[in-house]
Amino acid sequence: MAREQWGTKLGFMLAAMGSAVGLGNIWRFSFVAGNNGGGAFLILYLLFVLLIGVPLLLTEVSIGRKAQSDVVGSFQKLAPKTPWYLTGFFGIASAFLILGFYAVVAGWAIFYFWNYINGSFFTSPEVGYEGAFGQFISHSWHPIAWTALFMILTIVIVLSGVKKGIEAANKIFMPLLAIILIGLAFFSLSLEGASEGLKFLFQPDWTAFSNPSIYIAALGQAFFSLSLGMGAMLTYGSYLKKENKLPSATLGIGIMDTFFAIISGVVIFPAVFAFGIDPSSGPPLVFITLPSIFEQMPFGGIIGLVFFFALILASLSSSVSILEVPTAYFMRAFGWTRFATSVLVGSIMFVLGIGVSLGFGLWSGVTPIGDLNILDSMDYIASNILLPLGGLSMALLVGWYFKKSEALEATDMKKGLLGNVWFTIVKFIAPVMIILIFLNQIGVISL
Ligand code: PHE
Repeated sequence: MAREQWGTKLGFMLAAMGSAVGLGNIWRFSFVAGNNGGGAFLILYLLFVLLIGVPLLLTEVSIGRKAQSDVVGSFQKLAPKTPWYLTGFFGIASAFLILGFYAVVAGWAIFYFWNYINGSFFTSPEVGYEGAFGQFISHSWHPIAWTALFMILTIVIVLSGVKKGIEAANKIFMPLLAIILIGLAFFSLSLEGASEGLKFLFQPDWTAFSNPSIYIAALGQAFFSLSLGMGAMLTYGSYLKKENKLPSATLGIGIMDTFFAIISGVVIFPAVFAFGIDPSSGPPLVFITLPSIFEQMPFGGIIGLVFFFALILASLSSSVSILEVPTAYFMRAFGWTRFATSVLVGSIMFVLGIGVSLGFGLWSGVTPIGDLNILDSMDYIASNILLPLGGLSMALLVGWYFKKSEALEATDMKKGLLGNVWFTIVKFIAPVMIILIFLNQIGVISL
């Protein structure tokens, strides 16, 4: 059977942007920035997006397009008779881990959407939004039911195939989400005490740089937010025809993704300070902050409804790209149908999601890594370790295994200054930075 392809280049662009923009920009960005001191984190994050993220994004998409295969198959094809392909399994593993918790958080978003539909979030519940959220996520099966719904939606899109499912689903909601976020940002800025939030986000506390975990947190966030290192962008790239030009497309994705992150920061942090919420509340942060904003706004109930709808759609366009990674691999490697593969893989991820969800209630004492709960532990391993390792492997493939001319040709980069800068980053700068951050984290060196 012929491999599937995108209908148009715009279709690819939208799907790749849809993959990048999701819960990572709004939910994860806010709480990771909140946990890591705000401004100092933002500087490192932006630096890593620019210096490592965007160049590697180009690298990752080009590997997929050149090889026309999935995350494992691409390494097998491009570096035959080497063990390189084994690093593709970092991507497969991180897909299971990430969608395992992503579906849970997206399930929370669907629950919020439902609360706006039936009107129960139009005014603050008796226990307050924080209390209501706490009750909900610690319930033994309510959140799991919403996770199941989200997983089913994801599977349905993926089993409909690349063009009909993923591409078509992406065209409407990105602009919608952008418009709402910009509106929310203006409102948030008008709140009393907004300036404190802006200071938190934009004024770095320089002492924060002495904490090693801020580097790995910023690196992990850059990878997570750009959908980098897992093979999602590689797999999407593999559905591209050769004639599409890559550098401008990947830069566009990077800019778009960063825009969504910063604008969410401008929505969340002024409100965090205005409502006296702790910026380091962790994963619940936006789920407590946002409804408080909506409650204060004129027509907030309606805006909340539309916002959570857009957030669900943005999450879906990311979750399908995650599910697509192992789906493409198992389909090719074992000859299974798209239908059977996506249902099977999605179901396993759902089972992981049950564990994640119970981690907020029944299993709240379970802390697989240090004092991190199940969600945070899975996130830590996948986002801070596996994604950067996957990205490192791709950088080394293109920087060291390929000849330079081959690398430039694969990415549609021309010889000249830009091509040299990109190649130097991929060959030296990005790998060295990733390795230094890892060494710093385990205490071998101190940045
Ligand atoms: N980038 C997505 C988001 O920000 C999540 C994601 C991570 C998607 C890794 C694909 C691969 O929500």
